[in-house]
Amino acid sequence: MSRILAIETSCDETAAAVVEDGRRVLASVVSSQVDLHARYGGVVPELAGRAHVELLTPVVAEALLEARVEYGPDGRPGLDAVAATIGPGLIGALLVGVSAAKAMALAWGLPFVGVNHLEGHLAAAFLEEPELEFPLVVLMVSGGHTMLVLMEGPGRYRLLGQTIDDAAGEAFDKVARYLGLGYPGGPVIDQVSIEGDPKAVEFPRALRDEGYDFSFSGLKTAVITYVRKNPDAPVADVAASFQEAVVDVLVTKARRAALDLGVKGLCLAGGVAANSLLRERTLDVCIAEGLRPFIPSRSLCTDNAAMIGVAAAWRLDASGPSPLDLAADPNLRLI
Ligand code: KG4
Ligand code: ZN
Repeated sequence: MSRILAIETSCDETAAAVVEDGRRVLASVVSSQVDLHARYGGVVPELAGRAHVELLTPVVAEALLEARVEYGPDGRPGLDAVAATIGPGLIGALLVGVSAAKAMALAWGLPFVGVNHLEGHLAAAFLEEPELEFPLVVLMVSGGHTMLVLMEGPGRYRLLGQTIDDAAGEAFDKVARYLGLGYPGGPVIDQVSIEGDPKAVEFPRALRDEGYDFSFSGLKTAVITYVRKNPDAPVADVAASFQEAVVDVLVTKARRAALDLGVKGLCLAGGVAANSLLRERTLDVCIAEGLRPFIPSRSLCTDNAAMIGVAAAWRLDASGPSPLDLAADPNLRLI
């Protein structure tokens, strides 16, 4: 039995989890900073870093308590490693989690594991489906990334395509801000779209039928241009038509990748994978094409530390602990 304390502070969620044997979540605590950043319409890096400093200790304490981690007579907790996201993300935010994890590892004489946030997102589905069959096509859609990945096993990834401009989540956030719907945009557009007509406006679907790369900045501009020309258009219709265009492109490409590569399953990952329409359409495609759908529950799609704990277990298995001088890297790549 091995227990990892995992920490995630790459953006605006302060999170800690205790994961056993790389698959059982004994505790997962997420403290969102959404209210702090909402009035600025987006994440303010300096504020995020400071909030992580304030929130991390209580969040870690709560996770240890919830997981019923016991302490030995020497004061050391019943843990086997301390892990933290080392990138990609906001440097001032990453540094808080990485420094705290290294300090705890050093004080408790435990190995430290630096985890790639994107690998964490890829690992999320394994918490609910430990027997996931490889190879898999994963559509990873978050606030900073949009990629199609061929996953041949833990640590074995092939990048099939990615966005050449905005990430899908970034498009949701920017369009929501323009429509005056607030921050974060994804969940609000998801909600508002229920009342709207997805066929009201035929927005462009860039690159939908070619290759595996994505482009969403033209779509964002098209929404802005449309609203300028049609100031009285119902916001719900615009939001629903925008969401329809994004999901159409994402699902069409993910389906094509899965069929081209002959994989058996299609997996969703990242914050945008919490989107209701994306989840529904992915399921439809999987049923129609005989693919196994792997759609993690919403709380595992958005940033959390449980997924970092799973990826840390993979890392420990594959290459052992990380050196204590491993630096946080805001631009860390998956491949
Ligand atoms: O993975 P994540 O929590 O953080 C990053 O690593 O970026 O993803 C956050 C992104 C944000 O852009 C947010 O608007 C989007 O995920 N998101 C959604 C939904 N929930 C979160 N986008 C569409 N529909 C949702 N329900
Ligand atoms: Zn993320």
